[in-house]
Amino acid sequence: MSNLEFLFNPAHIAVVGASRSTQKIGYAVLDNIIKSSFKGNIYPINPNEEEIAGLKTYCSVLDVKAPIDVAVISVPAKHAAKVAEECGQAGVKGLIVITAGFKEVGKEGLKQEQELRSICKRYGMRMLGPNCVGLMDTHSPVNASFAEGFPNRGNISFISQSGAMLVSILDWSFEMGMGFSRFISTGNKADLTEIDLIESCADDPQTSVILCYVEDITDGERFVRVCSEASKKKPIIILKSGTSSAGAQAASSHTGALAGSNRAYDAAFRQSGVLRAESMNDLFDMARAFATQPLPGNSRTAIVTNAGGPAIVATDAVEKYGLKMARFTKETIDKLREHLPSEANLYNPVDILGDARDDRYRFALETVIEDENVDNALVLLCPAAVTEPEKTARTIVELNNKHNHKPVMAVYMGGKTLTEGRSYLTTNSIPAFTFPEPSVNSLRGMLQYAQYLKAPDPSEPVELTGIDKKAVRKILDDVFADRRVVLLGHEASDVMSAYGIQVSKTYLAESEDEAAEIGEKLGFPVALKISSPRIAHKTDVGGVAIGLHSDKEVKKAYRKIIENVHYYLPDAPIYGIEVQDMVEEGIEVIVGMSRDVQFGPLVVFGLGGIYVNLLEDVSFRLASGLTTREEVKKMISETRAYTLLKGYRGKKPADIEALSETILRTSRLVSDFREITEMDINPVRVHYKGATALDVKITVEEVNEKG
Ligand code: COA
Repeated sequence: MSNLEFLFNPAHIAVVGASRSTQKIGYAVLDNIIKSSFKGNIYPINPNEEEIAGLKTYCSVLDVKAPIDVAVISVPAKHAAKVAEECGQAGVKGLIVITAGFKEVGKEGLKQEQELRSICKRYGMRMLGPNCVGLMDTHSPVNASFAEGFPNRGNISFISQSGAMLVSILDWSFEMGMGFSRFISTGNKADLTEIDLIESCADDPQTSVILCYVEDITDGERFVRVCSEASKKKPIIILKSGTSSAGAQAASSHTGALAGSNRAYDAAFRQSGVLRAESMNDLFDMARAFATQPLPGNSRTAIVTNAGGPAIVATDAVEKYGLKMARFTKETIDKLREHLPSEANLYNPVDILGDARDDRYRFALETVIEDENVDNALVLLCPAAVTEPEKTARTIVELNNKHNHKPVMAVYMGGKTLTEGRSYLTTNSIPAFTFPEPSVNSLRGMLQYAQYLKAPDPSEPVELTGIDKKAVRKILDDVFADRRVVLLGHEASDVMSAYGIQVSKTYLAESEDEAAEIGEKLGFPVALKISSPRIAHKTDVGGVAIGLHSDKEVKKAYRKIIENVHYYLPDAPIYGIEVQDMVEEGIEVIVGMSRDVQFGPLVVFGLGGIYVNLLEDVSFRLASGLTTREEVKKMISETRAYTLLKGYRGKKPADIEALSETILRTSRLVSDFREITEMDINPVRVHYKGATALDVKITVEEVNEKG
């Protein structure tokens, strides 16, 4: 439960650095608070003035001698700590630090920012910023910012890490006729972050949609925890910028190369019910849809149009975004046939022809909305000589109000002649677009959220038995003692066994005779694989031989592998050669993990083998959310590999249960051991019965328990 009410609905505010000079930010903040019709007392603080804007002015917050909820600080950075200290002594609950010149300018700035934070901690004050524009709440109301203007009242909260983005959107919102409940600039996020603010907005009765622009999320684990709760109360739509693939490029494993922070964000958003916007347009298109329309019951979409081409584009978009074109009932078709011209198309999309006036729109739209097979409707209108865009806009609004359980969106495709109609729609709560795709995409977002709300709560994490943590700990300690970061094949194989994952039996041979002996013991045929901490991709250096049927073949292959490795990588240290039993046939998949800095272990599943990175037939989950069989099944089913596993073209289905168990146990292993930084089981061979980990690569890093 959020407790930031005092920030958004403060009883009394101080403005430290308030100024008479209209050019200064300290003036703008004070002026904004006054103009926003803030109801409480306003205390300008400025040691050189007695009165500003008709308000008695104080030397310091300590002189006010009355309760202050929020102090907006707009003094140069060098004075900020002293002011914060005084605010703490005066019992101020929250600071909004507009001042720039902190961590964004370097080391010295970071030190000052840390000082600010520790002052706040000491006094139990919360802080927005520093280096922020401030915040606005249109309902309390308060405008504690230096932005130009105050948003129209509405039900959208917008949280932005970029101040520039915030002020630009504010300006744009006036033109778009959009209303907001809160506007919040997070700045450097020294104390309050988007996580706290999302939590607070989710509890705000005036907010029905939460929008967020972020460049980074620094506490991934808390983000997932808080947003999972918050998204059950309100839709959260986030535009995350700056997701480069730099991390992915640096990775040495297949999984690491596939993962990258973008995937981790995707997985985290998905796991916490957050919708991810791909662009600014996307963010605000979805916001408008959520802010004005009911959630769709399902995906069946009806289209009413006066033109063929746009309807085809819209129909394509319906398919592309995973919605369905509704199939009307016979009654609907009969009714449409009876009242529409004979040239009209009665089936979805309903084409009421280029000469359609408002009455035809009214009839067709109401008829399809009333159809029980329709979950939502899209009205397309292109300008023609007889079209009545404004009258039709009023009709759409009227019908949407009458049938208010099904979302309706409008696409007024054109320019000047449709501006008024579009604007009427927008101001009367109908999302109106110029082209079809964004409207369908917004519907997709709403449907995704509706489905998230409907999904049953995840079941309890699976109880996994037969796990030997101590054995893994011992292996890792030995690896660290040997100053290595990659486990040898037989060590990785032992880790698998300790977590109850079926793995091909692997033993290390240090000579060809020993290899032959192990082969004898395992039973031929066997496979040989080079064991060297420097070699990640063994096949590439001729380090693998398979299907060896006798001790003679084993010895020969042993010599050949050593020769190959000496040729390709003369400096690589060789620990010996692993002898492995040959595993029965099956479908080869990859199960792996890459550890994300913010969100922790990210598990991957997909089609395995050497083409993993080329095909990218993969799905991802944060290990923290991969604790139930249902979730693992969902993860598997998102890939094309699933089609193969189910039994493609008459083949017997593979053992998906056994594969799920492998994924679950891998997820548990990487959650239990923070030392494991990357992991590839490529391939896991999924048989008709059982699944075997064939080649396991584990990369580790010593963890400082304190850090
Ligand atoms: N207590 C109260 N008032 C104080 C003070 C203190 N300890 N120290 C200074 N003041 C007064 C000054 O006297 C001045 O008032 P005046 O106009 O009557 O002389 C006022 O506070 C402002 O101080 P000044 O030194 O004139 O600073 P400024 O207004 O030029 O700049 C900031 C202050 C905070 C605006 C500036 O340092 C800054 O950070 N600008 C960038 C802000 C920004 O971009 N934020 C991020 C947006 S995304």
